[in-house]
Amino acid sequence: MNQSPTHSTTRRQFLKTTGGFAAASALTGILLPAVHAADNAPIQVALIGCGGRGTGAAVNALSVGLVPLKLVAMADVFRDRLDSSYHALKGHPVGSRVEVPEDRKFIGFDAYRKAMDCLKPGDIAIFTTPLAFRWVHFTYAIQKGLHVFMEKPLTADAPTSRRMLKLGEAASAKNLKVGVGLMSRHSRAMQQLAQRIQDGEIGDLILMRGYRMHGPGGSAYSTKWPGNPSELLWQIQRFHSFIWASGGCFNDFYIHHVDHCCWMKNAWPVKAQALGGRHYRFAPDGAMCVDQNFDVYSVEYTFADGAKFIMDGRCMNGCKEIYSSYAQGTKGNAIISSAYDCGLPSSTFKGQTPDRANLIWESNIKPEEQDPYLNEWNDLVHAIVNNQPYNEVERGVYASAVSSLGRKAAHTGQEITLEDFMKSDQEYAPGVDQWKMDSAGPLVADANGRYPIPEPGLKPHSEY
Ligand SMILES: NC(=O)c1ccc[n+]([C@@H]2O[C@H](COP(=O)([O-])OP(=O)(O)OC[C@H]3O[C@@H](n4cnc5c(N)ncnc54)[C@H](O)[C@@H]3O)[C@@H](O)[C@H]2O)c1
Repeated sequence: MNQSPTHSTTRRQFLKTTGGFAAASALTGILLPAVHAADNAPIQVALIGCGGRGTGAAVNALSVGLVPLKLVAMADVFRDRLDSSYHALKGHPVGSRVEVPEDRKFIGFDAYRKAMDCLKPGDIAIFTTPLAFRWVHFTYAIQKGLHVFMEKPLTADAPTSRRMLKLGEAASAKNLKVGVGLMSRHSRAMQQLAQRIQDGEIGDLILMRGYRMHGPGGSAYSTKWPGNPSELLWQIQRFHSFIWASGGCFNDFYIHHVDHCCWMKNAWPVKAQALGGRHYRFAPDGAMCVDQNFDVYSVEYTFADGAKFIMDGRCMNGCKEIYSSYAQGTKGNAIISSAYDCGLPSSTFKGQTPDRANLIWESNIKPEEQDPYLNEWNDLVHAIVNNQPYNEVERGVYASAVSSLGRKAAHTGQEITLEDFMKSDQEYAPGVDQWKMDSAGPLVADANGRYPIPEPGLKPHSEY
């Protein structure tokens, strides 16, 4: 259960000793042909999920300098989202690389297939829908021989985590490259910090702390379904509100800190217990909130050696705002992210307080590598073009599962091991691969417009 989250270091060491093509073959035990656009034609890209991040990821993809990438197809369940993404991309400096005529714009739950059908093996599919659809879209991409960039989180429950791990193996067996949008891993500052910590600069890590505390964000708070669009499509629009769609605000907002704090420790925790609650259940206008989130979470994760990681999250106005992450070692301490999910600089200090007088090291990253969202695309395309092993699915799944473990511990009020969590059979969006535009979806409101919510202690085995 303690899989190493240091994929990129492992990959670099591996390549040092074996070289690119041989490395790809050695990973799977069979000779694998290069899967990339060998004919110098631009690598084609399809965007599935044309919202805020999808549009941003497409810009990042089309900004890669190594080889030209071209956006050729787009898919969404809402026409207006696709259109506004298309117009934003066309108006961007990368707009000349957007070649998506009307007959390559697709709407509906099967739109992902049609968009991927526009690609050839070795092209890239981008998955930036809410997480519930990841395994469905990934299955088809593997079938079609496509490389993938998929956003975090990957899963909200154990059955889909197990499924995604298997799909990740299937992708590697076909020599497909898969990037996962945990961009901290591509922060050059955090990569240097992880190496320094592994080299013992601040001793053995005994405590990590992640804080994401700010006002209500995204779609984490929802009042009653207004009746239009359908209840399912409305829940998709407000995916941060519903555990089936996003893992709730805990997974969607806090996963970056969960991931990079565990990366610094070079391990996943073995168990979690947690506090959490909902202080405010009404919007400022007095309307009742019906989403499934708590407004505060404090999760205590424990590692096999007894070290701890505390993840504090709060979505509440008028309270102290902290949004950064830290590590404490036996000889010193580190600022992992100085602001937001992975803000520069990272630094290390002697002793237990981050006083500049005790500064050991502070990152100094060249301007062209300061954006981890661009770095993750440059790294993925570099691996595709050079046929190097590249698959971030396992760590993406474990970061998602560890987030779900913390959320479940808070929602049930129980201490839960990661091993037990991973054995669970509770799946929050069963049958998602069969959904149509008029499907009911996995969560239907009661006569008062309410959905089941977590009740720690009262519902000790199930989150709702
Ligand atoms: N790495 C990061 O820092 C980061 C930042 C923001 C969002 N994200 C992730 O990106 C994902 C999307 O977030 P967002 O903020 O862009 O949300 P969004 O609502 O703006 O975009 C999601 C888009 O997907 C579409 N969609 C939903 N279900 C679909 C389906 N089955 N098929 C096709 N299209 C579908 C929606 O209509 C919408 O246009 C989430 O998983 C989120 O966690 C990551």
